[in-house]
Amino acid sequence: MNNVDTERYNADKAGLARAGQILRGGGLVAFPTETVYGLGANALDDAAVARIYAAKGRPQFNPLIVHVPDFDTAERYVVFNDVARRLAGAFWPGALTLVLPVRTGANVSKLVTAGLDTLAVRVPDHPVGQAVLAAAGVPIAAPSANPSGRVSPTTAAHVIAGLDGRIDAVLDGGACGVGVESTIVACDGSPRLLRAGGIPVEALAACLGAPLEVGADPDTPQSPGQLASHYAPIGSVRLNVTTPEPDEVLLGFGPVDAALNLSLGGDLIEAAAHLFECLHQLDAMGALKIAVSPIPETGLGVAINDRLRRAAADRP
Ligand code: TXA
Ligand code: MG
Repeated sequence: MNNVDTERYNADKAGLARAGQILRGGGLVAFPTETVYGLGANALDDAAVARIYAAKGRPQFNPLIVHVPDFDTAERYVVFNDVARRLAGAFWPGALTLVLPVRTGANVSKLVTAGLDTLAVRVPDHPVGQAVLAAAGVPIAAPSANPSGRVSPTTAAHVIAGLDGRIDAVLDGGACGVGVESTIVACDGSPRLLRAGGIPVEALAACLGAPLEVGADPDTPQSPGQLASHYAPIGSVRLNVTTPEPDEVLLGFGPVDAALNLSLGGDLIEAAAHLFECLHQLDAMGALKIAVSPIPETGLGVAINDRLRRAAADRP
């Protein structure tokens, strides 16, 4: 399906108006959030949501995150308990996705929930993301705007590299500040961490007054059809490397001699913001063997290591 003329817009008044028009008309618009670029479609429109799967080449219907402008709008679609309310109050707008029971009568497309009775919702903290939601006037289902199994995009150029000709438009809002996807917490019952991400688990534990239980990771393969490797650059990936082989390209962290460095100063926040950009650059360099410096398993390091382990997993 490489037959659409993908329009590119700056996130100005005219670009936002056009994005709103395309989304209301059932089309696909990639737009920036503070985490990564999302591939948006009207979450109430089955055909529009189906186009997301087609454009990404997703082999199956994973449930999608619905983006809404604020807490009150989220409440139209899901039911909050006290813990969910507290987390939303502390971290919205921001890089936290809450999985909650779908509200009876919420007319969200079944393709968004993939048939589950829970729905993932998030209030993005990005002026362009918020402006797109306002312009569209509908909740926006948006996975990361990359072809299935490839690296998430943190710039409009990454989106074009992966999805040109497959989506209606991309809104350029510059590079994403956080650089890894949102943290996902299921709150249907006692809270469980489903995916490490932009909000560190330590911050969630501090808000809840207790460590967060870890639930089944939604991206961990549970059936043979599911993909084992996500977030994969073209080259093979070897982790925790202090001395790379001569034929390996080193993706460094901290003060090491490396072709690319996530953060020379060893700053995990900076490393998260650079992660996907570096993986895209490794593809652009034609790196076939990638070695990665050790990265501490604290704060945003948990999310970074999670993404890198998927990149290093055996390919299907
Ligand atoms: O930062 C982000 O979260 C980005 C931006 C665009 O918002 N979006 C994103 O979407 O990462 P995606 O589709 O790449 O990841 C969505 C994740 C998947 O792991 C999916 O399984 C999980 O959310 N998910 C969605 N709905 C769920 C549900 N009802 N129960 C459990 N997991 C769910
Ligand atoms: Mg994704």
